[in-house]
Amino acid sequence: MLSALFPLTARPTESNHLELGGCDVVALAEKFGTPLYIFDEATIRAQAARALNAFRSRWNDVVVLYATKAYFAPFLARLYHELGVGLDVTSEAEIVIAKHAGFDSEKIYVHGNNKTPEEIRAALHSNIRHFVVDNLDEISNLSELASVVRRPSPVVHCLIRLSPNIDAHTHRYMTTGVADSKFGLGISDGMAERAAREISQHKNLQLVGLHFHIGSQVFDTDALREALHAVLDVAADWKAKFNFELSELNIGGGWGVAYNEMHSTLEMDAFAENTTRALREGLRARDLNEHLKLIVEPGRGLIARAGVAMYRVGSVKEIPDVRTYIAIDGGMGDNVRPALYGAQYAAFLVNRINENATREYAIAGRYCEQGDVLLERAHLPETRVGDLLAIPVAGAYQLPMASNYNLIPRPAVVLVNDGNARLVRRRETIQDMLACDV
Ligand code: LLP
Repeated sequence: MLSALFPLTARPTESNHLELGGCDVVALAEKFGTPLYIFDEATIRAQAARALNAFRSRWNDVVVLYATKAYFAPFLARLYHELGVGLDVTSEAEIVIAKHAGFDSEKIYVHGNNKTPEEIRAALHSNIRHFVVDNLDEISNLSELASVVRRPSPVVHCLIRLSPNIDAHTHRYMTTGVADSKFGLGISDGMAERAAREISQHKNLQLVGLHFHIGSQVFDTDALREALHAVLDVAADWKAKFNFELSELNIGGGWGVAYNEMHSTLEMDAFAENTTRALREGLRARDLNEHLKLIVEPGRGLIARAGVAMYRVGSVKEIPDVRTYIAIDGGMGDNVRPALYGAQYAAFLVNRINENATREYAIAGRYCEQGDVLLERAHLPETRVGDLLAIPVAGAYQLPMASNYNLIPRPAVVLVNDGNARLVRRRETIQDMLACDV
């Protein structure tokens, strides 16, 4: 039985290799080299369809945005455009890629706790009009820039990002909805209300809704529900005070996924059911608009499982009475998550996929840093130099956070589907890395 951590199309071949999207990964490693990131198109499609169905079947006016920070590239933009999701973007480059792929500006929401004038201008030039306001200073900037960039629709639609002061019980670096956070505007300290009043002073800004995102890798659905109620309280309070109409509610992303067999995944259907039920009840109880546009913006939940990172074993070093290290040809340069968050993954030998795990190894990356250990305890068959090792659930926050530490080029990316493998990003070269040095 293959691990359910792998993409949906994962199968063993007759020669005891792993197959993804109808392609033997051992052959892919030979053709494209390692480290190699493999994305399975069928899984990308299936995950997006599940999220869309889960919410569309329960709420009339719903938009699923893909949080591009999880991983974005032209091939993914084209796919998500075809699948009918919108985008949560945070930079000018993400906007350029999105527009190039044909995204309708209506389906793009601009985020960021310090949007630069260049980014705001680029978004407005692309006729994007949904902005998630994260601080007071951004409001006048936005209004001023909107008044100089000529667009078909001169009014910018703002959602205020609230900081509901609720702990999502995830890693500290992924907790964003508590009082002491760089993101969002506080409720109890009155900052969010100040933002609402300030937005109303500008003719070319219109406050259409509220946003919250309490964190990432969230499994605590009670915390999400609590945050939802806190935000609906704000909407009711503002309705009473200044006739605010909640037309759009963005409940963020953050759906937790399993990275190894010890973890579980926040089940999408159950999550959609719980959230929409709580929302319906919450709106009714407060006499708020029950026909609002509901927006969700998962990143990891859509893309993580579609990606597999593949490495070649370069050394097996036994330290008697301590442990045995396997050194691979990637590491923190392409996956900083274990070093940064203590993220725990699973690893598999994919050139002998059916062999039982008999030993425990530590998997060391090749970077010059003692903390560059991708797994402290990997259970594998007896492993030899030249073996191919895969880490599943590698689709989110690995490539976009990759670096050139030690001046090592970043990996190639391949998209597999129905027996075809398409190179969607070639391996970086030394020339690429030096291109900006003058
Ligand atoms: N919406 C907002 C406003 C966000 O800040 C984020 C993630 C998302 C949606 C998507 O969250 P997701 O569904 O992907 O969990 N680098 C970290 C994660 C940082 C998340 C940043 N914001 C990691 O590797 O786990």
